[in-house]
Amino acid sequence: MNKYSSFKTACAAIALFVSAVPINKAAAQNKDGNASSVTIGMEPFVTKLMSKMTVDEKIGQLNLVVTGNVATGTTMSKGIEDKLKRGEIGGIFGVWGTENILKYQDVAVKNSRLHIPLIFGLDVIHGHETIFPIPLGVSATWDMGLIEQSARTAAKEATAEGLNWVFSPMVDIARDPRWGRISEGSGEDPWYGSQVAKAMVRGYQGKSMTDADAVMACVKHFALYGGAEAGREYNTVDMSLIKMYQDYLPPYKAAVDAGAGSFMSSFNTINGMPATVNKWLLTDLLRKQWGFKGFVVSDYTALNEVTNHGLGDLQTVSALAVKAGLDMDMVGEGFLTTLKKSLKEGKITQQEIDLACRRVLEAKYKLGLFGNPHKSINADREKQDVFNDDTRKFARKIAEHSFVLLKNQGETLPLKKSGTIALVGPLADNHSEMLGTWVIAGDPKKSVSVAEGIKNVVGDNVKVLYAKGSNITDDSLLSIRAFALTGPEQKDKRSPQEMIDEAVEAAKKADVVVAVVGESANMSGESSSRADIDIPESQKDLLKALSKTGKPLVIVLFNGRPLTLTWEDKHAAAILDAWAPGTEAGNAIADVLFGNYNPGGKITATFPRSVGQIPIYYAHKNTGRPFDGTGGAKFKSDYLDISNDPLYPFGYGLSYTTFSYSSVQLDKTDPVGNTTVKATVTVTNTGKYAGEEVVQLYIADPVASISRSVKELKNFKKVFLQPGESKVVSFNITTADLKFYNEKLTYDWEPGKFIVQIGTNSSNVQSASVDWSKR
Ligand code: BGC
Repeated sequence: MNKYSSFKTACAAIALFVSAVPINKAAAQNKDGNASSVTIGMEPFVTKLMSKMTVDEKIGQLNLVVTGNVATGTTMSKGIEDKLKRGEIGGIFGVWGTENILKYQDVAVKNSRLHIPLIFGLDVIHGHETIFPIPLGVSATWDMGLIEQSARTAAKEATAEGLNWVFSPMVDIARDPRWGRISEGSGEDPWYGSQVAKAMVRGYQGKSMTDADAVMACVKHFALYGGAEAGREYNTVDMSLIKMYQDYLPPYKAAVDAGAGSFMSSFNTINGMPATVNKWLLTDLLRKQWGFKGFVVSDYTALNEVTNHGLGDLQTVSALAVKAGLDMDMVGEGFLTTLKKSLKEGKITQQEIDLACRRVLEAKYKLGLFGNPHKSINADREKQDVFNDDTRKFARKIAEHSFVLLKNQGETLPLKKSGTIALVGPLADNHSEMLGTWVIAGDPKKSVSVAEGIKNVVGDNVKVLYAKGSNITDDSLLSIRAFALTGPEQKDKRSPQEMIDEAVEAAKKADVVVAVVGESANMSGESSSRADIDIPESQKDLLKALSKTGKPLVIVLFNGRPLTLTWEDKHAAAILDAWAPGTEAGNAIADVLFGNYNPGGKITATFPRSVGQIPIYYAHKNTGRPFDGTGGAKFKSDYLDISNDPLYPFGYGLSYTTFSYSSVQLDKTDPVGNTTVKATVTVTNTGKYAGEEVVQLYIADPVASISRSVKELKNFKKVFLQPGESKVVSFNITTADLKFYNEKLTYDWEPGKFIVQIGTNSSNVQSASVDWSKR
């Protein structure tokens, strides 16, 4: 049977189910894949369906299994087909492609008693088949339209391959670059992270989740996973409620407000209570305070791991979880194997199981799966919507927009489209590491290396002398860990010195050296915390040797996190941060190196000078003894051996052109009550290239009932300016921008002085003050 005849059979089975369950008068087959054919409303539909279900079938809906070659834990699901037939599975993740998906969906809708369709999930994080930059890179675009489009494009590809649920966006705020998963989020700022969270949810879920090209978003990891102590993966999180509400929770809340259909609980504890069994988190905050109406799935075996957190055996923690508001259990089968027993023993109630089951069924209803379990299965779409010219074009565009120019001394960049360049570094002619941390369906064979990109963009006009120069790392421990998922690095047979010598020879013959160095894809991401966030030593040795040649050294950096680049900042002529740029890496990098595109990205996570400064973020508190860098430092909040300042502050990023800012003009300086203050600056392109600038608005609240951050980002605008052109950029500031969580956790603003700051990054701003009174 080919996949399309199997599809028809599956639809026929659903039709049977529909007539067997008289509540649904609708036709099951639906060519356009719209669930509107289920004419009955969600609540009565699900109620009626649940009235037919046994306890086992209800518990079955709470079970999410994994299959395929993709596993992010050490446990794999077993006996899937038999479980499907018995109605013991609510969803599957790890497979994609219409053929695979049909195979499983067929079993569920044809061979299980109630023919309930499955939900199919996958970690579609920064693109599906066409890979975009890692989320930290995407966030550096400061372009919500592009960010939304990245999710939309990924949703189209994912649904064309039969998926209907993505484990994204990750909205965890991260202020510790040792944590490898900082790569998967949007950096350190709650307001900015909230904008990205909303854009991603909009992009994934589209106009309606019943549409054939829409997926349900799964917002993760709820909550505060990025606050892991010492940046060590899966570590404890312990923070004050004010910090939580003010700095870490807003992006999750924004995702709820944007209509996200599902959430994933995080691995960590929060003030002693594991998130996965945390009733305050999953019910009181998420549902009661924020009004979330979707379902919550655990992270991979996170429920089983609650036993390691010390809360009891699997039965105990599973009961705790269902009572707390966890609806679906990923891989570990704690729910499947213990909930019925707990029910019999009176440890949980039927209502608690019903509630979780209802939420899972509602998700399937919202996705239109009862109307058509194969709504996205479409042979034409699978051929046309996956990895085509448009997705490639978009990948190139978003990569270019994500790059951040960290240094450009003496206008080293853009490079001339003539002469000789030495292209060196272990990442210069590599096809896989540029894809980044979450690449499940992406194919490295289709990606463009930097060497290829340069050829594509400048052809033979530029002579390229290539030398690998070093391995990514010669550190045996780092090698094992950083390549654990992709297989060991293909090490060069030559000695490190021989490789360096070859690169130096190439450099001597060239006008400029372009060194493509940094982290491998799996040096960041899950389970990839690093205590030392330098460029690996083998590559640093290469850079040092290259720098001694006296040739201008341009560093193109691949990185999943802020790195400590103090040496590089001192010795390189230019540094272009390309993150892990995705499928079109080489073309996008070449476009920027040779000036076809003028970079305008800005970092969304602070780059420290040294690991010792971590956690480091711009919105810190003042302390009682602030050190402003002047005068004697004794008895001030500082370090003996390093400045307080980061190497590159939040919001920082250069351009091939330069911008000047006028002073800030305010239309009122004594506003009263709920009014609007208009703050205006004039931004001028003072250089010789057209370019984009991200104009950032910060507000400081120097006197309040609690100690406040020194400033907070409140808005930004991206402007494009021709050389010599000026634009007036205005922001309307309202009292909503002044609000914060006070000691009683009330979200309100307090009258007094506010400093309005507008500038090119969080450290370089123009300021003006208002005195805002209540009445
Ligand atoms: C990760 C999640 C991911 C899940 C499924 C876990 O290990 O923490 O982010 O969605 O695996 O792959």
